[in-house]
Amino acid sequence: MAENLNLDVSEAQIAVHWQEEQVFPPSAQFIAQANMTDPRIFERFSEDKFPECYKEYADLLTWYRYWHTTLDASDPPFWKWFLGAEINASYNCVDRHLDKYKNKAALIWVPEPEDEPHVTLTYQELYVRVNEVAALLRDFAGLKAGDRVTLHLPMVLELPITMLACARLGVIHSVVFGGFSAKACGERIADSGSEVLVTMDGYYRGGKLLEHKAKSDGAIEVAAKEGQTVDKVLIWRRYRGKYVSQAPIVEGRDYFVDDVLRDYVGERVDPVPMPAEAPLFLMYTSGTTGSPKGCQHSTGGYMAYVAGTSKYVQDIQPDDVYWCMADIGWITGHSYIVYGPLSLAATSVMYEGVPTCPDAGRAWRIAEQLSVDIFHTAPTTIRMLRKADPDGPSRYDYQFKHMTTVGEPIEPEVWRWYYYVVGKGKAAIVDTWWQTETGGFLCSTMPAIHPMKPGSTGPAVPGIYPVIYDEDGNEVERGHGRAGNICIRNPWPGAFQTVWGDRDRYVSTYYAKYCKDRNSTDWRDWPYFTGDAAMEAADGYYRILGRVDDVINVAGHRLGTKEIESACLDVPEVAEAAVVPLADPIKGRVPDVYVSLQPDCDPTQVRAAVVRSIEISIGKIARPKHVYVVPDMPKTRSGKIMRRVLAAISNGRDIGDVTTLANPSVVSEIRDMVQG
Ligand code: WTA
Repeated sequence: MAENLNLDVSEAQIAVHWQEEQVFPPSAQFIAQANMTDPRIFERFSEDKFPECYKEYADLLTWYRYWHTTLDASDPPFWKWFLGAEINASYNCVDRHLDKYKNKAALIWVPEPEDEPHVTLTYQELYVRVNEVAALLRDFAGLKAGDRVTLHLPMVLELPITMLACARLGVIHSVVFGGFSAKACGERIADSGSEVLVTMDGYYRGGKLLEHKAKSDGAIEVAAKEGQTVDKVLIWRRYRGKYVSQAPIVEGRDYFVDDVLRDYVGERVDPVPMPAEAPLFLMYTSGTTGSPKGCQHSTGGYMAYVAGTSKYVQDIQPDDVYWCMADIGWITGHSYIVYGPLSLAATSVMYEGVPTCPDAGRAWRIAEQLSVDIFHTAPTTIRMLRKADPDGPSRYDYQFKHMTTVGEPIEPEVWRWYYYVVGKGKAAIVDTWWQTETGGFLCSTMPAIHPMKPGSTGPAVPGIYPVIYDEDGNEVERGHGRAGNICIRNPWPGAFQTVWGDRDRYVSTYYAKYCKDRNSTDWRDWPYFTGDAAMEAADGYYRILGRVDDVINVAGHRLGTKEIESACLDVPEVAEAAVVPLADPIKGRVPDVYVSLQPDCDPTQVRAAVVRSIEISIGKIARPKHVYVVPDMPKTRSGKIMRRVLAAISNGRDIGDVTTLANPSVVSEIRDMVQG
């Protein structure tokens, strides 16, 4: 894994270390039942059929009104899909299934404590609950189409219910990962301009009932400092009628949803027909610089894209039991726990806690009990489960037909364990490469059409045309063993619309780098820059190497190094901070922190203070492996901190030539400190 860390060797050098892997064909049994077995789908989505080809995905949905223009590219790179159309996401995920599937399980919730019963919501029950909550949001919280609301919720049924209630009204939800700190939540409340916060009292994780409501109080303070007032806090309770938090209730601001809902029993709210281009939600993600970006996703284009990819790449069918173990607080959960699967009337499983609680067999027991046949997770979880109990799956009687890996590159070794042990040699695996910004998959094999290749994501999915550029904008050809910046040449309906409130940042971060002509209104001149390095093998399969920017992918989640560094600088003793990725056998990467101190400071308490500050600013997910207090940072003569030198030291790799640094002697001092 350390090898594909793009820090002190060029991408081209990394690429040549890799060997081609043997491919695995999907089984005849899988192919016989698959939704898509016809390779001509790639002809239907060929470049000369673009953009009309996407009607095939849009037709999986129910529209109030059809579009007059499939793609309006007149204001690049602000692409508009299905212009003139009207649709409602909640209607598509709930109401339209009632005729055929009202008694079918829409969501099955598995609480972490194993002695608590599962909760199943049929489509009819989901319909009732979404309507009542929509009525509450409209009439009690005063929300209307276009308003933003922040949902800081864990993995409980109330999260998708609230999301679908927002979507019913055209209210834009911004879900903040439950594990994020009060500060991170508050900043997102402020940036999105939310006047209402939906939260919960507590939830189970890792065997403990965690306090959660207290975070909302801190978040509201942070938001207030940034000029955003929250008028209402709606608190779901983990146990109806019983408050499990220690945090006080603020009179006139905080309300228990289960209490207020009594006034809305039996209420029905007509879904609001929304323009296809109306935003459905914001999802914040970390980038190279500055604060997290609110990726704004559309209603029509996004829904069409997640429905299409769920059907053909995830191979979801109405009688499947589908379990994606991601958190809904990340994009994977939005697209492939909630909107994609529910739009197809699937049964989607949600699990509250960690997959090793109370023991490493938990995930396999859930799979066995619920007869899960489609399983979706990330390499970090796969590595963790493999380490905890490498033979575990064989003791449980489940059989997956299809499995997904997502979030970071998977080592071929780990892939093979996933295939042979978790999938029992029978499941088709898709390695789906995509991003918060892209709404849905960019590259993956089509599970019944292509063979699988361990460690490679596969070719592009239908309708996506990638290209790899070198730094100068020359195309890197396939099959030459060289890597470069992977870009997407064309717009697609799942792509985000803009960075909330910051059009310039959207253009400069994602489209400026390889734009051929700023004045052009031809989409061909505006390739989308993903920020990932990749190489394309002779067979057209892409191998993703990782981020090219200052983002550390921890357990499949993007953390901005700048955000972590600025949390370090909140500790008064810290003068300078540098955060680098350290290869980790389970999480892929974890942050390693270097700090130098103000003159005459006592370093004894600093390490703990830095860890605490990072947890307060971002959350435990960003907790560093080490905090090194160094006499000085290695710097160039112009004063730039050489993070790559620190990364090489952290990871025990060759540091390269440092003689041109302003202070070369500090490098050996730091190396001795770190490597002993
Ligand atoms: C990485 C998660 C290799 C990549 C859906 C991307 C992957 C970032 C894969 C996006 C994969 C995601 N193989 N790398 N299958 N999937 N990545 O926004 O670096 O949380 O840019 O979206 O994760 O992370 P995000």
